[in-house]
Amino acid sequence: MSAADPRARARDAARAIVELTGVERHDIALTLGSGWGRAGELIGETVARIPAERLPGFRAPAVAGHPGTLTSIRLHDGRHALVIGARTHLYEGHGVRAVVHGVRAAAAAGARVMVLTNGAGGLDPALAAGEAVLIEDHINLTAVSPLEGANFVDLTDLYSERLRSIARTAEPGLREGVYVQLPGPHYETPAEVRYLQRIGGQIVGMSTALEAIAAREAGMEVLGLSLVTNPAAGTGDGPLSHAEVLEAGRSAEARLGEMLSRIVPRLG
Ligand code: 6GU
Repeated sequence: MSAADPRARARDAARAIVELTGVERHDIALTLGSGWGRAGELIGETVARIPAERLPGFRAPAVAGHPGTLTSIRLHDGRHALVIGARTHLYEGHGVRAVVHGVRAAAAAGARVMVLTNGAGGLDPALAAGEAVLIEDHINLTAVSPLEGANFVDLTDLYSERLRSIARTAEPGLREGVYVQLPGPHYETPAEVRYLQRIGGQIVGMSTALEAIAAREAGMEVLGLSLVTNPAAGTGDGPLSHAEVLEAGRSAEARLGEMLSRIVPRLG
């Protein structure tokens, strides 16, 4: 992204979202990662779908399995949700501003709650593929921050205890864990997986932490959810493939969509 001020660019996108959806304010925003794509249809009625390329600062995604659409949804209680189906990953090489543009646009569109979901590898051998995990905290190993300048944002309660408590009530028995973000696009070596286990990670992926930081800076409350798509390298019984990760996501989609449709209406 070349624009000098990323927040101005986010406000431009938010204005375009209002124009193209006719919705003045989106109360809640969701980024749906691998396995979570069906949630949109289940949480309410679709008001409008916008191809990412039509919005300032967004781009069509480069990776198979990640759709490039933003969807405006009217929840059953009348509030509006913005589903950001156009995540830019750090490994695409467009820089960290592009990675967090969707979150900033959602904040500029009025959202006070940001739901971030992803597909992740299981570091904790007790986590089975197909299981959902509530993110309790993260470790950002990308070596970058989405913030620039003297912007010392507190991350003590980044994954809001209030929202986690709502998710636990909606979904009794939901596991919780620490998410580690690495830049990717390669998966980890078995030695790196042992390291991530020792520093306290339960799940590992290539998104979410940077977006969560930008959401907090923008004053939003964050809820994070991962689908364990596979055991991390050296903890399962074979090599990892992107195709298998996508397939694990597809087979969990209906279940995860229903889970989100139980959680989202309670996120006031
Ligand atoms: Cl094992 N590692 C990372 N970094 N991302 C993943 C993954 C593993 N499985 C799904 N996404």
